[in-house]
Amino acid sequence: MKIVLWVVLGIVGLVIIVFGGFGMWVYTASNSAINATYNVSVTPFEIPADSTSLAYGKHVATIRGCIGCHGADLGGGGEDLNMGPLGSYYPTNITSGQGGKTANYTTADWIRSIRHGVKPDGSTAIMMPSYEYYPIGDEDLAAMIAYLKSMPPVDRDNRPQEVGPVGRILIATGQMKILTSAKFIDHDAPHPPAPERGVTVEYGEYLGTTCTGCHGENLAGGVNLGPNAPLSTNLTPGGLAEYDRDAFFTALRAGYKADGSQIDKIMPYTQFAEMTDDELDALWLYLQSLPAIENEY
Ligand code: HEC
Ligand code: HEC
Repeated sequence: MKIVLWVVLGIVGLVIIVFGGFGMWVYTASNSAINATYNVSVTPFEIPADSTSLAYGKHVATIRGCIGCHGADLGGGGEDLNMGPLGSYYPTNITSGQGGKTANYTTADWIRSIRHGVKPDGSTAIMMPSYEYYPIGDEDLAAMIAYLKSMPPVDRDNRPQEVGPVGRILIATGQMKILTSAKFIDHDAPHPPAPERGVTVEYGEYLGTTCTGCHGENLAGGVNLGPNAPLSTNLTPGGLAEYDRDAFFTALRAGYKADGSQIDKIMPYTQFAEMTDDELDALWLYLQSLPAIENEY
């Protein structure tokens, strides 16, 4: 009897040590990523002010998803991202109004926040997908910043980000990069030039970085975006076997899958609907050029 009891206690103890140790490791590793600060030097570029650039900047901010998260007024009034055990995230007010973060922004601050995921005080932006935005070229970024700066000030306070236990595991294991983008960006590397605009695989890949946060880095889907969302789907030719170019356009412009069923609203198709024919064609070319991955997502 006594021996059995000791064995049971031993097993229980071991389980506590293993899980406790894992928990402590997750907590420490995620904390170090969440609280990391960075000293990023960027070379500011000229911000245009003409109406063509402002209109193009609005286009870029729309198709890159800024408006979906930060709200159409950019005052943080977009959708709160309540993702259950992943955490609750509140895109900030990025206007120059009261509670807004950007009244004192320099051009370098804009570049650092968007491309590097590093706020003006050097701290890490949580759940801001800079990892996807790093490749955005100078011309697109300059036009976007021009547009962002032109937005009327909005007075609205911000709520702090709440990283949940699953969010911490994903941060610690590096599986959801946009939670702590800054950790995954080489801040010292020279910035690569953007590919020329056009209906090419390269330009499609450039636009498609915006899909990777939700559809996965290999775009094969299966990413869990919280309890209120379906798993993201496979965008490689393995997953889009039923699609042709027209069906793809319908999916991104109207929100219907190739089988006619409606795509869940978490997929920001109302913003992607703003893409031009050439942009969608480039994206389609790129997705079709990917190695076909077969899975059930
Ligand atoms: C998935 C939602 C999401 C998307 C998409 C997104 N952001 Fe953010 N962004 C956030 C969150 C959340 C924060 C707050 C980060 C923090 O304070 O830790 C943030 C922070 C920022 C900041 C820093 C504000 C500060 O505190 O100084 C700027 C600037 C910004 N975002 C601009 C943009 C732009 C421009 C785009 C589009 C290119 C964009 N964001 C797209 C969620 C998002
Ligand atoms: C905020 C997260 C998010 C982003 C960003 C996103 N998607 Fe999606 N997408 C989803 C989810 C989730 C689904 C599955 C919806 C469903 O099953 O109803 C989906 C479904 C789709 C579908 C339908 C596929 C099918 O199974 O028939 C297509 C096509 C698609 N996305 C393309 C894209 C492209 C291209 C991009 C980038 C330009 C993109 N998505 C960006 C979340 C996202």
